[in-house]
Amino acid sequence: MYLGRLLARFVNRLRRGDGFEVGMLQNIRKLQLTEVQRDGMRFAGQFNAQLMDYLRQYIGAGISTDEIDRLVTDYTHQHKHTPATLGYLGYTKSCCTSVNEVICHGIPGDYVLKNGDIINVDITSIVDGWHGDQSETFLIGEVSNEGRRVTQCAFDAMHRAIAALEPGCPVSVIGDNVVEEATLRGFTVVREYVGHGLGRRFHQYPNIPHVPDRKSKQERLLPGMCFTVEPMINAGSRFTRLDTTDNWTVRTRDGRLSAQFEHTVLMREDGPEILTQCVNGPRRGHKF
Ligand code: MF3
Ligand code: CO
Ligand code: CO
Repeated sequence: MYLGRLLARFVNRLRRGDGFEVGMLQNIRKLQLTEVQRDGMRFAGQFNAQLMDYLRQYIGAGISTDEIDRLVTDYTHQHKHTPATLGYLGYTKSCCTSVNEVICHGIPGDYVLKNGDIINVDITSIVDGWHGDQSETFLIGEVSNEGRRVTQCAFDAMHRAIAALEPGCPVSVIGDNVVEEATLRGFTVVREYVGHGLGRRFHQYPNIPHVPDRKSKQERLLPGMCFTVEPMINAGSRFTRLDTTDNWTVRTRDGRLSAQFEHTVLMREDGPEILTQCVNGPRRGHKF
């Protein structure tokens, strides 16, 4: 029983792309994209953001999470691109839909959104071999104060962390800023699931923890590297529980709300560039 749980946790860490450090040091230069490669990432990020803007009009009370997933699949295929999660490590849907106490990796299904829910929709597209990855938490109708506040916190923490980045800075700048923002408001930061490098691969070096640790203090964000910033903020305790019936859905252990936002970021010689900014989505400073 205990061993099974340990194993499930280990498999899930592998799924997230943790532990790819072996042999990475000599390959870091390959992660510093050329201008042509950066344009590939820009195009993928822009398409992914366009898809999020398309979904925006449909997300509200009465739609099921499976219907959202269908919109993602059809829109992506109509544009001749590929949903990255479809078939990824056995995952069978085109997006993740994480409602209320679900922290991340919620699987679209029969659930119908209702007034008062908060839902994170996380989409990743493959465009000409490059990945764009982003998520937003949406407020459905009238949401509790706590739901609104935890959503605001995740949004502000993400933008604060991105704004603090400088070329060559340690990865831990992200964790420093996310923790500060969450602590200020009495919320907690999830540790088990992290941001990640991405490019031609969905999940690659470096890991981007949202709480600083020894490794992230040593690793640096060099010009030309692409990665996600995707803090998960819990209203109550930071602890998580993996659903052992589907081995994907991650919930807060205390059943309280959790919110998340995610952008794909390119570190340039002159600072960070957000690759997944929507036209109609919330921008830095937005009040929910
Ligand atoms: N999009 C998620 C991320 O931000 C990963 C989802 S993997 C899945 O990294 F298989 F669960 F969809
Ligand atoms: Co994502
Ligand atoms: Co991601």
